[in-house]
Amino acid sequence: MVLTDKLGRTVNYLRLSVTDRCNLRCMYCVTKDFQFIPHPNILRYEEMLRLIDIASTMNIGKLRLTGGEPFARKGFMDFISNVMVQHPEMDLRITTNGTLIEPLVPDLKKLGVSRLNISLDTLDRATFKEVTGRDHLEDVLSTIHACLSAGIRIKINAVAMKGINDNELNSFIDFARENPLDLRFIEFMPMGDDTKSDSRFWSADDILEQGRKYAVLKKIQVKKENHGPARMYSIEGGKGRLGLISPVSSHFCSTCNRLRITSDGNLRTCLFSDRTYRLRNILRSPALGDDALRKVIAAATRDKPLGYHLLEQRSGCKGVCETQMSAIGG
Ligand code: 5AD
Ligand code: SF4
Repeated sequence: MVLTDKLGRTVNYLRLSVTDRCNLRCMYCVTKDFQFIPHPNILRYEEMLRLIDIASTMNIGKLRLTGGEPFARKGFMDFISNVMVQHPEMDLRITTNGTLIEPLVPDLKKLGVSRLNISLDTLDRATFKEVTGRDHLEDVLSTIHACLSAGIRIKINAVAMKGINDNELNSFIDFARENPLDLRFIEFMPMGDDTKSDSRFWSADDILEQGRKYAVLKKIQVKKENHGPARMYSIEGGKGRLGLISPVSSHFCSTCNRLRITSDGNLRTCLFSDRTYRLRNILRSPALGDDALRKVIAAATRDKPLGYHLLEQRSGCKGVCETQMSAIGG
């Protein structure tokens, strides 16, 4: 069974958030007074595994585990191991803030985890504290270096923010020059109770123009399976590369291949749309089997929206959707 939508897009990539809890409070991610998902609503790992089993029968070949911070949930290492054993065919990726895992790096490597996405918006300790509310820059840097030594490939995601990290572009380029990793800037998306993204917005084109004043950046062709919608650039004389992801200024909705499931079992077919499909009740209903879940997932996918329409309709400084990013996982 292949998942397609009315616009002819094929969906083969699932992003599953294992928790909405996080030890950081990034300003672009946590935009509301805290309302965590109540514990009984969070799917058990067995329920998540069942969803992955089902997804694998629907042509989903790529899986990203996200949070909140996925490593903040107890038992996450065992869960990774179970997913890898049960689904060796899946291209498994993980997104983390990197603050908790430096001691786990050798075990991750042993499990067979070969790539990690790490969120890091600044190389400056005070700015890190300002953006995330916590003083953990050194922990993230140690994790990055441990991963590189262990042979785990790293992508760094930095949310581009005027007045916060636009003065650090050169340092970031130097960081990617010195280390074999991909450093990607993501345009600030207006999510949740957003009030900041407009004033802080720093476009991918501006980043490129500014970066080219400092370094020779050459566009390179990369595989969509590995880089999604990122535009990638080599840095002359550098080990690593620079990437730009522009969900706001030049959307890539027409080639979007993703579904998202939140940790309470809500299926979202578009990052920007609050329309969700509740899978939890079906999962927990003894009378309903896998086919009932498949039916809902297939029907939801057919109606997958074009998110940039929602972005265009956004009014004022409000977020494009109600849900804040920490509950969706990026
Ligand atoms: N805009 C852009 N990127 C965001 N992320 C979280 N919130 C936003 C936002 N409002 C990204 C972070 C993190 C990933 C989980 O999502 O960089 O890497
Ligand atoms: Fe936590 Fe990531 Fe959100 Fe920051 S962006 S608060 S690290 S989930």
